[in-house]
Amino acid sequence: MTLRKLFLFATLFGLPLVMTATSAETPAAAASCVACHGANGVSPAPIWPSLAGQGSNYIVAQIKAFKAGVRSDPSMSQMVAQLSDSDMKVVGDHFASLPAEIAPMGDEDFSAAEKLFRGGDAARNLPACMACHGPSGAGNAPAAFPALRGQHPTYTISQLKAYRDGSRTTDAQEVMRDIAAKMTDAEIESLARYVSSLH
Ligand code: HEC
Ligand code: HEC
Repeated sequence: MTLRKLFLFATLFGLPLVMTATSAETPAAAASCVACHGANGVSPAPIWPSLAGQGSNYIVAQIKAFKAGVRSDPSMSQMVAQLSDSDMKVVGDHFASLPAEIAPMGDEDFSAAEKLFRGGDAARNLPACMACHGPSGAGNAPAAFPALRGQHPTYTISQLKAYRDGSRTTDAQEVMRDIAAKMTDAEIESLARYVSSLH
């Protein structure tokens, strides 16, 4: 087969031709995701979560929640409507394999945020975030506890507030709704910036 014929054939049948590094590496099922989540899994806008280095099981669980309408977002619900279970796994494994991009820690005083993250607050019955999200915020991939490091603080703040006001209900046993209900705006905002730069 000539190169031109091979190219035509690959185009007609949607086969990935190794042309550029990016298109070759992004599986077909994830092709429509990169506009918002970034070809390298690092999203270009702070309201769109980065997926690079996020756990695959967690990604799959959230895709399923969007598909089932348990978690709703106008852009996401449509995007995942056509994904099969095996597509979801391919997409999850793909983004999980990409390195998280971690911005340097800002120079604000993070001592209160760090205390909550590492030790919780017994007086309010607040558990340490670290217990589930890991000492470096990398999450617990097999358990589907999400990574928090490398995430846009703007997105993290929106999710903690969504748990707090009860609009995000994907958390089993209401674990995050219970925790966020006890957090102040100042704590949410400082923690979101702190965890984004952990590594
Ligand atoms: C038009 C922009 C857009 C596109 C395209 C898009 N997403 Fe999203 N995605 C979002 C937004 C916005 C959110 C956050 C929604 C929210 O606040 O609950 C999100 C959230 C997610 C989450 C949850 C992340 C987390 O940390 O909980 C996953 C997983 C995800 N998207 C996967 C995908 C996949 C897979 C595709 C492609 C099939 C895709 N997205 C396409 C905008 C987009
Ligand atoms: C007992 C375990 C546990 C503890 C403790 C915990 N989390 Fe979580 N967290 C989870 C689980 C599980 C999820 C995923 C729930 C879901 O699917 O919605 C989650 C989700 C999140 C998310 C959403 C991530 C995303 O990508 O959308 C944020 C942000 C978060 N937690 C922050 C925190 C912070 C901050 C603390 C400490 C104040 C904390 N968590 C303590 C288990 C925990």
